Amino acid sequence: MGAGKSTLGPELAARLGRPFVSVDSIVEERTGESIAEHFAERGESAFRQLEEQVATEVLDRRLPVVVELGGGAVGSIETREALEQNAFTLLLEASPEEAWARVADSGRPLARDPRAFHALYDERKSLYDRVADGRATDADGAILAAAGVDIEDGALARLTELVPGDGPVEVVADATVARLHGEVVRAGLADRLVGEHEVPAGERAKTAGEAERLWSTIRLDRSGTLVALGGGSTLDLAGFVAATHLRGIAWTPIPTTLVAQVDAGIGGKTAIDVPAGKNLVGAFHWPARVLTDMATLATLPAAEVENGLAEVVKTGLLAGERLWELETAEQVRRCAAFKAAICLRDPLDRADRAQLNLGHTFAHALESASGYTLAHGRAVALGLLAALRLSGLHDEAQTVQEVLQPTPVAVDRDVAWAALTRDKKAKAGSPRLVLLDAPGRPRWGVQVDARDVRAVLDTLIA
Ligand SMILES: NC(=O)c1ccc[n+]([C@@H]2O[C@H](COP(=O)([O-])OP(=O)(O)OC[C@H]3O[C@@H](n4cnc5c(N)ncnc54)[C@H](O)[C@@H]3O)[C@@H](O)[C@H]2O)c1
Repeated sequence: MGAGKSTLGPELAARLGRPFVSVDSIVEERTGESIAEHFAERGESAFRQLEEQVATEVLDRRLPVVVELGGGAVGSIETREALEQNAFTLLLEASPEEAWARVADSGRPLARDPRAFHALYDERKSLYDRVADGRATDADGAILAAAGVDIEDGALARLTELVPGDGPVEVVADATVARLHGEVVRAGLADRLVGEHEVPAGERAKTAGEAERLWSTIRLDRSGTLVALGGGSTLDLAGFVAATHLRGIAWTPIPTTLVAQVDAGIGGKTAIDVPAGKNLVGAFHWPARVLTDMATLATLPAAEVENGLAEVVKTGLLAGERLWELETAEQVRRCAAFKAAICLRDPLDRADRAQLNLGHTFAHALESASGYTLAHGRAVALGLLAALRLSGLHDEAQTVQEVLQPTPVAVDRDVAWAALTRDKKAKAGSPRLVLLDAPGRPRWGVQVDARDVRAVLDTLIA
């Protein structure tokens, strides 16, 4: 009571693209009385009966909705069972002092006396702890919990508990990252660790050869978990191997680059590169949990931080918030939550997940034309400039210029154009782009006159 469910619930539902259902509101509709009136006239136990009936009805339907449950509802065994079977239950945490400050003058039947309120809080706390699958204090936290993204200082030292389940674990690690952080991971996994696999640092890991090597050396059965330690490259490879080994085993990425923490580690897309192109073979395979420990960024080279910052700026433009001005830990939390919400509502990339491609059609064309020597961050920064120019958002283009300072790249113009019109998302040679009506208001699948696209592409080339 007073934790903020009625405010956060609808916000959460909107961000996840799901209906919001309030058990209290249904009870009020059915009885034609407010909860306070119902309590006063019929007493608490009559209310609890009705609440249990509505809550179990709603939960047993197993529809993808966000349900708000009143603070006392988990007192019912039937409701607790329905939660366990059908729901991901999120405990919205608030101190009793905060909660009391919110409800003191609300006229709620169980919030008339601060001492009784505190006693009720103490009495219910252990029940809440028992039913909670996740905890949050705000909407971003709720989304991260629902998506299984755990951002926690010192996570590496607690891997035995944090990697879901209690089965055996094998680790696939980027060779450089293994050298820097392998020891802590090994100690953190303790006796759950049964195998280790090093893969080449960075993009060179994303090959069919590396996948095959892992398929033939991983010994895990379906009770096991593959932990991936590294940047987006290691995660893409290990996630794909986890998706395919024995037709799919659980995996837990530990992202160690800013790119992977804000982007690649979130959303369950995995892939390897093949001769026909980058990321062309892969699978959707949602991780059992994503474990982000900010401490891993301490060893990340500055150039890799810049690659990540370009994705932070992209996310900020999509969210309509200057996320790049936040300190790094907050950038990671906000960007991860933004992407997680989109991926939860569009897990298979059939709808609005397309917006995450902002600037990337141009970036991929420039990277391809450079023979993949161009840094991804610079390519994305240039791609964002192009998308903003085509959107007519010149102030925002100026901001990107100031924050990321990308300089035009020396590649062949015709080769870049050919790569752009060959893009996966192009239709009949005409690129489909993500543009912004304004920051925070993306449009995707936009067909733009090829001459305008070409002209903007040319501005990115030295
Ligand atoms: N699946 C997705 O949704 C998704 C999204 C974005 C990008 N990606 C993929 O991610 C890949 C790029 O990933 P990335 O940018 O994270 O880089 P990366 O994994 O290629 O790593 C870049 C370099 O950083 C090093 N490194 C990683 N962590 C380090 C650390 N903590 N300290 C020191 N060095 C460290 C690596 O050894 C490597 O040399 C691309 O292949 C891209 O296609 C996938």
